[in-house]
Amino acid sequence: MGDKSPILDNEPGGPGGKRPKRKDVGVSRFILLLILCATIPATLLLVGPKLGLGKEIEEDNALGKVTWTACRQRGSGGSPLAECGAITVPLDYFNESAGTASIGLSRYRASVSPRKGIVLINPGGPGGSGKTFVAMAGKLLQTLVGEDYDVIGFDPRGIGDSRPSTKCFTGDTSYTTFVRNTVLTRSYDLASNLSDTEAKKMLVRQQREAEALYKTQFDICGKTMGDQLRYMGTSTVVRDIDFITTALEGPDALINFYGFSYGTILGQYLVNMFPDRVGRVAIDGVADASAWASEPYYTWYRGWLSSTTDAYDIFFQRCSEVGPPHCPLAQEKGEDPSDIKDRLENFIDSLFYEPMSVPDTNVPGLLTAGRMRMFLLGNLVAPLSWPYMSNALALAMGGHGAAVLEAVQPNPRAELTRSAVSCNDQKPLAPLAPETVVDEVLDVFHKVSRLAFTVITTEPDAGCQYWPVTPPERFQGPWNRTLSNPILILSNEADPVTPLRNGEIVHKFLENSSSLVIQNSPGHCTLAMPSACTNNVTRAFFADGTLPAKGMHCPADYPPFSGAAIKALSEDSGRLDAQAKLGLILDLARKGLPYDHLV
Ligand SMILES: *[C@@H]1O[C@H](CO)[C@@H](O)[C@H](O)[C@H]1NC(C)=O
Ligand SMILES: *[C@@H]1O[C@H](CO)[C@@H](O)[C@H](O)[C@H]1NC(C)=O
Ligand SMILES: *[C@@H]1O[C@H](CO)[C@@H](O)[C@H](O)[C@H]1NC(C)=O
Ligand SMILES: *[C@@H]1O[C@H](CO)[C@@H](O)[C@H](O)[C@H]1NC(C)=O
Ligand SMILES: *[C@@H]1O[C@H](CO)[C@@H](O)[C@H](O)[C@H]1NC(C)=O
Repeated sequence: MGDKSPILDNEPGGPGGKRPKRKDVGVSRFILLLILCATIPATLLLVGPKLGLGKEIEEDNALGKVTWTACRQRGSGGSPLAECGAITVPLDYFNESAGTASIGLSRYRASVSPRKGIVLINPGGPGGSGKTFVAMAGKLLQTLVGEDYDVIGFDPRGIGDSRPSTKCFTGDTSYTTFVRNTVLTRSYDLASNLSDTEAKKMLVRQQREAEALYKTQFDICGKTMGDQLRYMGTSTVVRDIDFITTALEGPDALINFYGFSYGTILGQYLVNMFPDRVGRVAIDGVADASAWASEPYYTWYRGWLSSTTDAYDIFFQRCSEVGPPHCPLAQEKGEDPSDIKDRLENFIDSLFYEPMSVPDTNVPGLLTAGRMRMFLLGNLVAPLSWPYMSNALALAMGGHGAAVLEAVQPNPRAELTRSAVSCNDQKPLAPLAPETVVDEVLDVFHKVSRLAFTVITTEPDAGCQYWPVTPPERFQGPWNRTLSNPILILSNEADPVTPLRNGEIVHKFLENSSSLVIQNSPGHCTLAMPSACTNNVTRAFFADGTLPAKGMHCPADYPPFSGAAIKALSEDSGRLDAQAKLGLILDLARKGLPYDHLV
């Protein structure tokens, strides 16, 4: 353990606490229209607990300055409304002598006047690039918030074009080389018909391997990056959001934010750290920030996966309804969905006993039970991809594993960006017996979802007991502050990784400061399935703060595997198709995969 600096939890006198309450968002936005960022005196731009206003700005007048230029991202070049840039921020909001950091930015400008202000976007991960997301999909994002906002993308600390960036592996070994074919990318192998004692023995061995890999990779991070790693945590990113809003819109502007998936954790930190600066904030695909910040990671999955089986069952139900060839897993239209499911699960179990050789791919290898389950969870989150998923699964069951294997190979661009966020956020964990992890997750495997071990590797937040640094700040609640403006919470009925339960937890914390809308569909984030109803709710909220009726449910416009879903992806004929496209792009952006073929 390197750094031992004190943790400044929940600094009560943070800038959020000092800001006067504002009720009238409209007026402040009007004032903002009159302020050009270049004319804001640098003295107004510095915020942060220890960086007193107007002290050292003369020495570093680059702080808060943004220069916009054309974007290099493919697919964004066409629009003159898309711009890219960077902003210089304090590296450490609690230590002015630590120097500066740079946050990659993009902006898709309002095309309708009067302009209302800015909305900052986070696509999730953690690890997804907001800069690329907005540069490439800014116009699509305006279909959610309105064309009168500038949509702002930013690369959170350590990610994308932000500097310092998280790069632990240097020299001859890339992170991908290091993790390839280990339990961290093959995932855990087990068959559901193993006896508990046998399953436990095999899993403990795999868990020990995982622990040794976590220790190795984080020792390497400590060596190559040292103290630079301390600043990637969510609390620091929230202070950046506050800083960026001040830089672009002035010190009185309220913060507007739209976060998906991990972006909802960022959103919960944001509104509770700066409750008096909340303007229009929407969170979609809600993760439980209170558990994320305070509970050991291996206890999260019981909650996380509480809707996974629902989504899984809907997949087989719809597969049966459309039948082959749309869903080749079904033998005939109307086949009992549980028969389709049993065939698939028996096949996965059989791979545990006899992995399939897959020679005919870019990266040849073995199709294993663990990899099949990774593929399942990775696509269950995106119902618009279910036709593709069912096809690839059917091919594998027919002896052709290439499509599945290729889809679960580690992203060649991957690094430990996600760990840098989640390990700075997590409360330090005492040394952990592998048996403790296995006992808990095996119980979830039996009682909640067969994808229980899978999620440890598809959502890699583990191993933080070996994280080498301590962040300057680690927000741990309270999560129930009274906000200057209520926020909009969006949850799907059957979200395989961020269940409705989480939306309800956040809504309960923010009882009088939020509204919850439930979309009756499977998938991760409401964007996973287009819904005119949800879209109307979101647009009305960003237009003037209109909140939906209490207990509002929105239907999706069509079910998964429907002709409309397939058509929407091939044509571009209006707002709903834009939403379908945005849903697919979001899924890839969150996973850090390329999506230029979609824009
Ligand atoms: C502040 O940063 C400087 C420069 O990195 C460092 O030497 C110093 O120890 C830091 N102070 C604290 C209180 O962390
Ligand atoms: C478990 O299932 C596999 C594949 O269906 C089968 O080969 C194996 O014999 C079964 N094992 C037990 C212990 O039931
Ligand atoms: C917020 O939660 C804390 C502890 O969880 C509780 O003590 C406090 O009363 C709550 N505040 C409100 C306004 O409900
Ligand atoms: C929310 O408002 C209701 C009605 O005014 C009140 O009874 C309740 O205590 C409030 N809840 C919180 C957490 O402030
Ligand atoms: C959404 O809003 C549009 C325009 O205001 C309206 O025509 C449409 O009926 C609404 N759709 C739903 C499902 O609420």
